[in-house]
Amino acid sequence: IETLREAPYPIGAAISMGPLRNSEAYRQTVIQEMSSITAENAMKMNFISTGRGEYFWEDADYLVDFAAQNNLRVHGHTLLWYRHTPDWVSGFSGTKEEWIAIMREYIQAVVGRYRGKIASWDVLNEIILDDGTLRPSVWLSNIGLEYIGLAFKFAHEADPNALLFYNDYGHEYSHNRRLATKQLADSLVNAGVPIHGIGLQMHTNTNRSIDDLRYAIMAAATTKLLVHVSELDVAVNPDQNPNATFTEALAARQQESYRAVAQAMLDLPEEQQFGITFWGVSDDNSFMRDNPDWPLVFDSNYQRKSAYRGILQGI
Ligand code: XIL
Repeated sequence: IETLREAPYPIGAAISMGPLRNSEAYRQTVIQEMSSITAENAMKMNFISTGRGEYFWEDADYLVDFAAQNNLRVHGHTLLWYRHTPDWVSGFSGTKEEWIAIMREYIQAVVGRYRGKIASWDVLNEIILDDGTLRPSVWLSNIGLEYIGLAFKFAHEADPNALLFYNDYGHEYSHNRRLATKQLADSLVNAGVPIHGIGLQMHTNTNRSIDDLRYAIMAAATTKLLVHVSELDVAVNPDQNPNATFTEALAARQQESYRAVAQAMLDLPEEQQFGITFWGVSDDNSFMRDNPDWPLVFDSNYQRKSAYRGILQGI
């Protein structure tokens, strides 16, 4: 294998608009190594939805055009999330029917604009808590439980070919979330809701055992849906020690985590392997760079780290 583009399933990265527009090294790494991209922030509701019926498309369009020019799959992230909700939505007061209407308008505007260009969407992000109960949100409190099925239904109407995911973190440590996710997925499938995959963010760290990482992936696969490791990074300084350094021992341990995740994905039935997405390209554009940390597979100079070799060992 010369680059990750030749991996047996798609490997991708979250993309941030600054370096995408301004750094040739960043762009070249993405073009040469990735098969798939996700917007790190540009498709979140507070970035796109500037008011009811008003949208900011510039960044999302730029990213989708870049993907089309370079033959990259685009994974949309994320239609609804309890964070990154625009102020006009948080402050909206209306009946249940009006809340359903604003949800439908937003989802269908976004999914419809990129119909045929965005292959898959995180429809819902982080809706289950560590204890397995539903997380409070404006959608849950104003619409009730049925908002979950409706969100998938509206997205499916806007692009019947898009693959639709429920994405969350913490499957590698919360058994309650694993169980609740399985129950939710089964009940949605039984009710005929168009859900096609489970996204595991997997913001993890070198203290987490590789068995935990592997188990999270296997448990999600019991739904029989697609499995996407959607936001992978392996922190080496989870305690955020300001004086931490990136030692050889930590690099070796990090490599082992990347190897385990890559292999667990490959061990799934082939038709469930949606792929792995890193949450950033190089260590210096990771959202945890200031912790400080070195959580990704390329270093700040876009050189392959031992973590990259871990991926190669796993596939
Ligand atoms: C993060 C981005 O990386 C940051 O730049 C932003 O400030 C906050 O969101 N789970 C998710 C992602 O689903 O959208 C989050 O991304 C990281 C945690």
